[in-house]
Amino acid sequence: MEKYVIRGGNRLCGEVEISGAKNAAVAILPATVLIDGVCRVDNIPSISDVSTTLKILKSLGSQIRYINKNTIEIDNSTLQFHTVPHDLARHMRASYYFIGSLLGRFGIARVSMPGGCNFGVRPIDQHLKAFTALGASVSPMENGMIEVVADRLVGNSIYLDVVSVGATVNAILSAVLARGTTIIENAAKEPHIVDLANFLNSAGADIRGAGTDVIKVFGVERLHSTHYSIIPDQIEAGTYMVASAATGGDVLVKNVIPKHLESITAKLQEMGVVVEEYDDAIRVTRPNRLIHCNIKTMPHPGFPTDMQPPVAVLLSMADGTSIITESVWENRFRYIDELRRMGVQAQVDGKVAVFQGVEYLTAAPVKATDLRGGIAMVIAGLAARGVTEVEEIHHIERGYENLVEKLANLGADIRRVVTSDSLISRAL
Ligand code: EPU
Repeated sequence: MEKYVIRGGNRLCGEVEISGAKNAAVAILPATVLIDGVCRVDNIPSISDVSTTLKILKSLGSQIRYINKNTIEIDNSTLQFHTVPHDLARHMRASYYFIGSLLGRFGIARVSMPGGCNFGVRPIDQHLKAFTALGASVSPMENGMIEVVADRLVGNSIYLDVVSVGATVNAILSAVLARGTTIIENAAKEPHIVDLANFLNSAGADIRGAGTDVIKVFGVERLHSTHYSIIPDQIEAGTYMVASAATGGDVLVKNVIPKHLESITAKLQEMGVVVEEYDDAIRVTRPNRLIHCNIKTMPHPGFPTDMQPPVAVLLSMADGTSIITESVWENRFRYIDELRRMGVQAQVDGKVAVFQGVEYLTAAPVKATDLRGGIAMVIAGLAARGVTEVEEIHHIERGYENLVEKLANLGADIRRVVTSDSLISRAL
């Protein structure tokens, strides 16, 4: 087990380069299963969710070659298995994207129900609704596995009852090689949905309307080799913007698409943060004390739920009372119990959290509860007085490439150390 040790109080200053988007990579890599040829994918983030996805691909029979740390060549012409084992699927939510891609390629997928961050109930009814609309049947198996089978997938209309990123991705994946046209209504509009569609179209798919709430997928016979580069990570970019604001810093966040960051930029500006936009970079400075504001998380283009925990750290230090309403997940405030140990004053009632801003935070030992809750603790540690230790950092490393190096380059005092507990258990 490792932990981060952070001595707070340093202003973050300098430049940081944003990596490829996690939530695009974990959809695009399973999508390669549909391609009868070699795919070269650039700008893949080096994070543990990507390693897990690549392990699943290898277990299915993919040939994977690293060109460099962030570029991979995948040849799926030799795929022979269609079962994703539980010990891999349990590590990440997006393992269910293999249902859509294996079903599309082979007409059969056996996948364990997925793991991932714990935000309460995370149903997949809308994914299953999409598969059955295209003619597949779904059966539960032993050990938490499900089997999804179709003789021939046929395009159909799918109306999603909730705006779901995952169900939109799975509907696209299963429809690309289906006969006829699939229309996905009430689709998610996140940048990674557009990126997945662009990737598949570069391989010969015919997907139109990604980025709007009606996506049309015109089925094609086969997909061919392609070379594609993943978009920059919107949430990683937002995280460094918040870290700069939290420490009163001056950070140029490079390799971003400013349009993807508009909802985050707008809220930071409301809090008194200065945000300057360039073509593919954003500079964030915070001259004065933060001002309170209210935030409601929404599907894209609303304020992203994944930025809710980092921004909560800013609101906990802002002048006055702020309210966050979480409208995407039923239980995404678990991390606040940990932040209270650092002096955060917040009351949580269901999907609403009310923050009474304090002048400063104080260091404490804390445990990352999940990926974005964990990064909130890191940001709090950077801003706090004293030395904060963040444990359970495997959650954070699912989604942030080179976090320690990137923060240290900006002047943070942060180290990743092996805990004495794990040294003892290794010695035994
Ligand atoms: N929902 C259903 N039925 C379904 C699917 C979803 O009721 O079949 C509900 C969920 O319970 C939730 C809402 O719909 O209340 C939205 O869930 P969605 O399906 O959009 O979430 P997801 O696809 O499981 C992705 C991201 C999450 C991000 C959400 C919302 C990936 C791999 N994960 O999850 O990212 O919070 O969209 O934007 O793309 C993260 O990166 O930290 C993370 C958790």
